Formats: sequence, structure tokens, C-alpha cells
Amino acid sequence: MMKTTLYPVRVKAQPLSLFETPIGIGELHEAQSLLDDLRSAIAENKKRSEGIVRSNEGGWHSTTDMLVWGGGAARKVADLAIGIAKRLSHFEEATVEDFEWRASMWANVTQPGGRNALHSHPGNLWAAVLYLDMGGEGSLTGGNFYLEDPRFPLAAMHHTGFRFLGGDGKPQKYQVELKLKEGNLIVFPAWLRHGVRTYTGDRERISIAINIDAVSRR
Ligand SMILES: [Fe+2]
Repeated sequence: MMKTTLYPVRVKAQPLSLFETPIGIGELHEAQSLLDDLRSAIAENKKRSEGIVRSNEGGWHSTTDMLVWGGGAARKVADLAIGIAKRLSHFEEATVEDFEWRASMWANVTQPGGRNALHSHPGNLWAAVLYLDMGGEGSLTGGNFYLEDPRFPLAAMHHTGFRFLGGDGKPQKYQVELKLKEGNLIVFPAWLRHGVRTYTGDRERISIAINIDAVSRR
């Protein structure tokens, strides 16, 4: 007869969270004249240009050469965003200053009812957004910026309601909305899919988007 062994073993497990996705949430200070100049440049360009269609559904998306028509204010925003991107970047066997950091920039003016579909910015290291006018306060006006877990839908493929528990013991959402306000400058990996919920305010909502890449000088 086989002997049954009772093992008095217990296990203690510590969660280890790996593979962070860095998101830089910047807040501009003493930026009123910068924001005013950007709003003026955008209003002026919007009068002259029909814009283009990308992820925007309902709203005006300028051409991506805002660094040409946006003047010194646009250049300043690009430099601020690149500064955040550099602080979140590391290159093996090189420094961030060994690369030429390039930016392209465009403006988004969203009308009530407009939104941006889920998308990424291929061919870049980083993407950034600066908010010039949220179009209204609070959650009632919608238009929230959201990011999608880059592991989605893999984690939820077996059971659609499955979620990983995070280090804080809470289930991790597969889409996270950020509460942003005028003057916020956010920088995130360009491959990270994101979008903007339907905006329901009663005036135009204005933001600037930036693509950032680091190009070898050699
Ligand atoms: Fe985008």
C-alpha cells in the first residue's frame, strides 16, 4: 500500500512587477504668454488651411509642419517635450546627446462631438501632447485622453473579464484615462496606443501633438 505523505509546506510569494512603461506628465509654469501665442498661431493657421485627417474624427488637424508656422512658441514646446523625452531615455553605449532629436508638430482643434480613435505614432521614439484649452472643466465635457495597456488583448484572451492584479492589489485596467488640464505636457512611447474620448463641451478643445525621434549623428 502506498504511503500518503502530508507535506507541511507553505509558500510565500512576492509580486515582482517588470517592464515599466514610462509616461512623463509635465506641467508648464509661467506659461500664459506661450499658451496665448500658440492659440493665436493655431487660430491664424486654421483660417488659411483645411487641415488633414488622421486619427481625428470631427475636428481640425493641422498639417504636421507647425514648427514652420508656429514660430518661436512652437519651437519652445518642442524643446520642452524633447527635454522630457531625453530624461526618460537611455541608449546603450551612447548618451542622449549623441543623437539629433527631431520633432514634428501639429495642432488639433476638436469640435463638440469629435474624438480621436485609438492609434499609435509609428516611426518615432516618443509622442507628446500639450493641452491649450480643455474646452470646459470636469468630466461632464468628455474628451479624456486614454492609454491602452500594450499587453491587451493578450491578458484577457482566455477570459475576457480576466485582469492582472497590480502591485497595489488592484485589478489593472486595460485602458487608463488621464485627468489632464491646460498646460499639461505629456510624453509617452510612440508605440503606446492612445485615443481621445468623445468631447461633449460647448466650445473648441485645443491641443498640440508632437512626434519625437532621435537620429544618429554618425
Ligand atoms: Fe496620437
